[in-house]
Amino acid sequence: MQVTAAAICPADDAAARAAKIESLRRGLLRWFDANARDLPWRRIRDPYRVLVSEVMLQQTQVDRVIPYYEAFLTRFPTVEALAEAATADVIQQWAGLGYNRRAVNLQRTARAVVGDYGGVFPQSVEELRRLPGIGPYTAGAIACFAFELDVPFMDTNMRRVLHRWFFGADLPKPIASERELLDLAAAALPPGNGWAWNQALIEFGALQCTARKPACVVCPVQAHCAAFPTIQAVIQALPTGVRRKQEGPFAGSQRFYRGRVVAALRELTSEEHANGVSLAELGTRVKPEFAETDLDWLHGLVRDLERDGLAAIAEDGAPAYDATEPAPREMRIRLP
Ligand code: ADE
Repeated sequence: MQVTAAAICPADDAAARAAKIESLRRGLLRWFDANARDLPWRRIRDPYRVLVSEVMLQQTQVDRVIPYYEAFLTRFPTVEALAEAATADVIQQWAGLGYNRRAVNLQRTARAVVGDYGGVFPQSVEELRRLPGIGPYTAGAIACFAFELDVPFMDTNMRRVLHRWFFGADLPKPIASERELLDLAAAALPPGNGWAWNQALIEFGALQCTARKPACVVCPVQAHCAAFPTIQAVIQALPTGVRRKQEGPFAGSQRFYRGRVVAALRELTSEEHANGVSLAELGTRVKPEFAETDLDWLHGLVRDLERDGLAAIAEDGAPAYDATEPAPREMRIRLP
């Protein structure tokens, strides 16, 4: 078999790998210059704004995020404003974005930045990681996108692009470990240019090297990509169910009803919010055919939301929750 530059993996000759990385750097940065979208969080370096954007972007597409990002920052323009807000207001402001736990975690982070750091974000990945609500991706993204530190980190798009370049097709299953990919992300990062590089990797994965429709024919780095020779055929050979992103049934799932409960709590009148609503009343608002026999199920769900900071429960002297006991009828529920 002829060994081409595209087939070079990390275990191969160091000089060839350095040359491949150099070509990829040049190719990707040039592509980014020509194709980068002008996104609001790319115009700023304020760590609070970067944090808000990255949390929103974790489970939501760029186009959907933009209006929510602008509105959220109008409502909570500083980390102090977010820290001081009532959690119920933050959850209200999050309406429409989904994955509501992100709103509560975002506020936890803001409160820690204000409480422990006087409102000034720490800059190192290690310190950022210690903040509540911040995982390895977000810590890396803030260090890089706000403070322009040359740090590697990994999201779905970056993982896919690096895998294809260095290990070949990532489908039907990736063959490289997270450790191997992170090591490559570190090796590939051009010193002094980490901000553009990491933004470019994300953008390239979002626009060019997508999961199921990579634009290989017009790819500027195809000559250096280990997946180029096979990826189109591999995708064509995938069963249709795998080729399309699998979504699973959503309506009727536990996540669906969690969303419905939080939406119902958002819609309480101010009087209802002050007093909370009963479990039975809440039930009729989240499930049209709600029955007595659903009370225990709803009780468990509301307890989960309370634990996640998305609901507040007043017990009116009811005994402490015990999953083996029937749901207490006296409890009142509202946003925290
Ligand atoms: N997804 C995650 N972070 C992003 C960013 N900074 N720009 C575009 N999409 C993203």
